[in-house]
Amino acid sequence: MIRVLFVCLGNICRSPMAEAVRNIVKEDGLSDKIEIDSAGTGDWHVGNPPHEGTRKILDTNRIDYIGMKARKVFTGDLTRFQYIICMDAENLGNLHRMAGYSETGFIGRLMDFVENSEIDDVPDPYFTGNFDEVYEMVTEGCKGLLKTIKEENNL
Ligand code: 4NP
Repeated sequence: MIRVLFVCLGNICRSPMAEAVRNIVKEDGLSDKIEIDSAGTGDWHVGNPPHEGTRKILDTNRIDYIGMKARKVFTGDLTRFQYIICMDAENLGNLHRMAGYSETGFIGRLMDFVENSEIDDVPDPYFTGNFDEVYEMVTEGCKGLLKTIKEENNL
């Protein structure tokens, strides 16, 4: 099983959106090969469903998020998941600090998977309020990530 963990700060806006976009994995018939989860580096929203803005854009696009609840990322995640994909430089720094010198899965940013992207970070809609922009970026990033995973794992 290939395991992918999306990480953001609160695990209520950006990373649950990326997790929900797992519908593209289902459409490719790869649900039994790729497992997807999300977590936050902060614990303020642990146990909460995705943010209203994230739910709204997912509803608009008929993407389900049933049962999704925020959780905090923990050290064990870094070895359990082969692809640990975060949203911005702050998440990246926090994950690298957590990892220390231990061996982990690949840790990178979602926008690394968008060819010729001029933007490295997915802006935080919790502060910008722009969930539409984030949805576009997250879907592009997830498509690129899926392409890479398929290439790297001969799927
Ligand atoms: P997210 O957005 O990292 O995309 O889930 C945030 C959600 C909550 C907070 C910050 C960012 N917060 O400070 O509570």
